[in-house]
Amino acid sequence: MKGLILSGGKGTRLRPLTFTQAKQLVPVANKPCLFYGIEALKEAGIEEIGIVVGETKEEIGAAVGDGSRFGVQISYIEQDAPLGLAHAVKISQPFLKDEPFVMYLGDNILKKGIKSLVEEFKTEQPNSMILLTEVPDPHMFGVAELKDGKVINLVEKPKEPKSNLALVGVYMFDSNIFEAVNAIKPSWRNELEITDAIQYLVEHGYKVRPHIVTGWWKDTGKLEDILEANRLILEGMSGKILGIVDETSKINGQVFIEKGVKIKNSTIRGPAIIGEGSEIIDSYVGPFTSIEPRCKILRTEIENSIVLEGSEICDIGSRIDESLIGRGVKIFKCPPKPSVYKFMVGDQSEIVLK
Ligand code: G1P
Repeated sequence: MKGLILSGGKGTRLRPLTFTQAKQLVPVANKPCLFYGIEALKEAGIEEIGIVVGETKEEIGAAVGDGSRFGVQISYIEQDAPLGLAHAVKISQPFLKDEPFVMYLGDNILKKGIKSLVEEFKTEQPNSMILLTEVPDPHMFGVAELKDGKVINLVEKPKEPKSNLALVGVYMFDSNIFEAVNAIKPSWRNELEITDAIQYLVEHGYKVRPHIVTGWWKDTGKLEDILEANRLILEGMSGKILGIVDETSKINGQVFIEKGVKIKNSTIRGPAIIGEGSEIIDSYVGPFTSIEPRCKILRTEIENSIVLEGSEICDIGSRIDESLIGRGVKIFKCPPKPSVYKFMVGDQSEIVLK
């Protein structure tokens, strides 16, 4: 079985971060989201993986390389324009050939991985297996309607959903999917929808097996979802102290402090991760916070947030919460007089002041 990870897409819901970074590389607990997918495929015994890339192909290639560090072999498949998930399958046929495959959306994370699901697919040998989970907002997803445990209808982002079962971004197919992706027509948003291709399989008598996912699943396309995925991953992590913590500091709960980190006169309350070479001085880092390498947090309180590489946050008067702070950002307090706000902020940033 082969793996196909989709890592094109513009990530418009994560601007401004995605003006300078591929959405699949935004880190969750200090690890790019895309790496969770590669590791899940490897864990399921899939070592030949194609990654479909678009505009951000160089960045994805630089981060993932040939896959040897994950113990897999990566091929890159270029998609000239984001014409839909089924289009990505279509252009990947020369790589996939006749082999069954798992398609994994590069911004999805599944807590329990996919090992048992791949085994189920291999044993039952349906033509396709789709993963479904109950969501409160089905109109944001592909939605499946089931009858007597069978898939009868699938609609992409329906205005009036027939169920609350969303399609999770992991799908399994045999080579009959190529007949489907070649037969369907683009949707109203000019994309070849994978949902329509699966609907084609259902209508043409192919066996599509639904599997309801029980562990948590996150599509990290939006800020709230990234923060939630960060919380869920940190919750399952164990602590370790590899850096230096002075005697006036307190570390509570599961905190992963990487090499070269300096913690002075601060409290870190886990679960949290502090990346290599970061400094936390006279500060409080609260639960569910991921600080990437080479950041400085000085005289500041922060929790439930993600701070990317090389950022500095100093002397912030109130606690920072539910924030995603990009790379190389500087946030600090201005001198007492004149008491003003000063900003140099990128396009489509969002700042909330109290
Ligand atoms: C895509 C699929 C949708 C699925 C979702 C899961 O949507 O088109 O059917 O439910 O992924 O993450 P997108 O994230 O591209 O809006």
